Amino acid sequence: MSKREITRTSRITAYSDHSIAQEVAELIEEAKKAASQAYAPYSKFMVGAALKLSNGLIIRGNNQENAAYPSGLCAERVACFAAKAQYPDESIEMVAIVAKNADADHFKLATPCGSCRQSMSEYENNQKEPIKLYLLADDGQVYESESIENLLPFKFSDKNLKED
Ligand code: THU
Repeated sequence: MSKREITRTSRITAYSDHSIAQEVAELIEEAKKAASQAYAPYSKFMVGAALKLSNGLIIRGNNQENAAYPSGLCAERVACFAAKAQYPDESIEMVAIVAKNADADHFKLATPCGSCRQSMSEYENNQKEPIKLYLLADDGQVYESESIENLLPFKFSDKNLKED
């Protein structure tokens, strides 16, 4: 009998708000705009996502809730599905995500939920180029993940469905 460990690690790079690239700073501003327009009357947790496509277009999304709670959708998937519905052949280069409580005056770190990671991972696999993530942290720092895979170790994908 043998035993071995298989380890996957996630790595985040934290940038002070002064040291992030201009295009990232702009994408975060777009995500803030999206968050301010979220439809979140139940959680009052306003999430905004803004993604940049390979054609340079920026697509915004925000969380859309519903009285039948599970019918709602997270900001990240609203943005990605809107982008892929309209521009199926463009790849997603980066996604910025911000969140705040409706009555708060500061933003709060929101790391994407498992379902959003799974959805974004499929697009990342298809396009064969990493999707970079930028998350606005509570203290104004920007957290960067170099890919979705970095945040989804031991991911499930279409490979799992195929016969060997
Ligand atoms: N939410 C997002 O939109 N993105 C996340 O990354 C985490 C959670 C939304 C779903 C729901 O509308 C509210 O935040 C509270 O969970």
